[in-house]
Amino acid sequence: MKTNTMTTTKNDKVPEVPESAVDRLRRMRELTLVGGGPERIAAQHKKGKLTARERIDFLVDEGSFVELDRFVTHRSTDFDMASQQLLGDGCVTGHALIDGRPVYLFAQDFTVLGGSMGEMHAKKICKVMDMALKVGVPVIGLNDSGGARIQEGVDGLGGYAEIFWRNVQASGVIPQISCIMGPCAGGAVYSPAITDFIAMVENTSYMHITGPDVVKTVTHEEVTSEELGGAHVHAAKSGVVHFVSPDGKSCMQLTRKLLSYLPLNNAEEAPFVPTDDPHDRCDPELDSIVPADPQKPYDMKRVIEKIVDAGSWLEVQPEYAQNIIIGFARFGGRVTGVVANQPAVLAGCLDIDASVKGARFIRFCDAFNIPILTLEDVPGFLPGTAQEYAGIIRHGAKLLYAYAEATVPKITIITRKGYGGAYDVMGSKHLRGDLNLAWPGAMIAVMGAAGAAKIIYRRDIEKAADKAAMEAEKTAEYERLFNNPYRAAARGYIDDVVEASRTRSLVIRSLELLKTKQENRPPRKHGNIPL
Ligand code: HXC
Repeated sequence: MKTNTMTTTKNDKVPEVPESAVDRLRRMRELTLVGGGPERIAAQHKKGKLTARERIDFLVDEGSFVELDRFVTHRSTDFDMASQQLLGDGCVTGHALIDGRPVYLFAQDFTVLGGSMGEMHAKKICKVMDMALKVGVPVIGLNDSGGARIQEGVDGLGGYAEIFWRNVQASGVIPQISCIMGPCAGGAVYSPAITDFIAMVENTSYMHITGPDVVKTVTHEEVTSEELGGAHVHAAKSGVVHFVSPDGKSCMQLTRKLLSYLPLNNAEEAPFVPTDDPHDRCDPELDSIVPADPQKPYDMKRVIEKIVDAGSWLEVQPEYAQNIIIGFARFGGRVTGVVANQPAVLAGCLDIDASVKGARFIRFCDAFNIPILTLEDVPGFLPGTAQEYAGIIRHGAKLLYAYAEATVPKITIITRKGYGGAYDVMGSKHLRGDLNLAWPGAMIAVMGAAGAAKIIYRRDIEKAADKAAMEAEKTAEYERLFNNPYRAAARGYIDDVVEASRTRSLVIRSLELLKTKQENRPPRKHGNIPL
């Protein structure tokens, strides 16, 4: 029998009777499981939030979680902190399996000092990040924290910066996923912002640089936390967030699903998932899905759903910049990133938000060996002072840059319009598309026929007795010459013009062929994407 000689923590009182080493271990392990205690756990539940350990249970394969650093405590003494030591220091860390594949993770425990980040709390997170990078597996962070631990001063701030540094080193090497399950404020938001995907929970989570009180003092705006940085604000307005879930459990399920599309690291392929959906499935409805009238919209999401493996579509950022659609799907079991213009929103025009949304997704896919399928129906970049003043030149260039930089297999299908600069940008042959197809009704030109005819035949139209008739005639002439896919196909810019119903089988065969594609770029420290 040994006496407990460890420094006592707030929840570790030395028992009066001596205990064995194993008993001591068991007692202390029990203590680590209760976080800030039953009252604080009840308060957490009352807010509609799960505890850190409950979240982990929903996230990982049953019984697979291996905890690390459960006995870590802070070493701060100011502000009576010595009496507030709790085992684990407000963060549960370790590794686990998700669908049988390894991940490292950390989950902040709001019941312990508000999940605030002090020196040791940060060190625990840094340890799992370092291990994830060494081992080459994803890292998942479950954030629920009052921010830098006020009592620890610069140690908390330093901790954040250590995490930021690791986020940047891991970027493009291992997937990083952040789930915001409670408060995430101040500089704390920047770690999730650097990670690849952010999921938020409706009503119980928020992210903002400064809270409502500071906002009121500085700008006199009255705003709630939810209005300032709630899940839907970031999903629809700021574009910070990729997924929104109604509650903590579904957020964890979504994270599991997301991981099923991602490789463990940048040297691996995403998991192959065999499908019963026939590879050569033709969908005759696709042949008539695009309206004959080029001004009429249609829903590109229906096209996507008809060509991917049944049930495999996972849309990313569905609420933001809806004029472009991004997401993961499988074709014949192979994970593919889909980028598609959406003619049903803003006629599918590219604006600043759509360009940035598309560019970041393409760069993620390229970093992690995920081929890119582009479905193109784009009338051009959105005109106007609002876009020009806000820098559409700089931001639109990001999309172009991302396509040109990507070396993963790139397949582009023009379903209808491929106009102007937007034709070039959206994965064109000129930016090294590997397979560029067009549906029979595709129109590839500098601009729409009516606009084009007005410019190049302006004098003829002005001089004509019947101006409208002349304009119609010249429009028809331009349409006949350019508003079809055959001029582009004649130059080899389009590899083939195909019936829409055959799209699925063509994409699957091409992805299969392109999986051994190799393409190199000149060596350099890094490019200078127009940020
Ligand atoms: C220490 C903290 C804390 C913090 C919360 N707590 N935040 N302790 N440091 N940052 C403690 C509370 O004192 C309380 O302890 C317990 O956690 C639960 O907090 P409540 O306030 O009771 O919870 P709730 O009402 O849900 O409010 C949550 C909250 C609020 C909105 C997050 O606690 C809050 O405003 N905290 C301060 C946020 C903040 O200003 N953080 C610093 C941001 S600057 P008891 O013992 O009473 O239960 C920052 C810079 C990062 O983070 C820079 C990185 C570069």
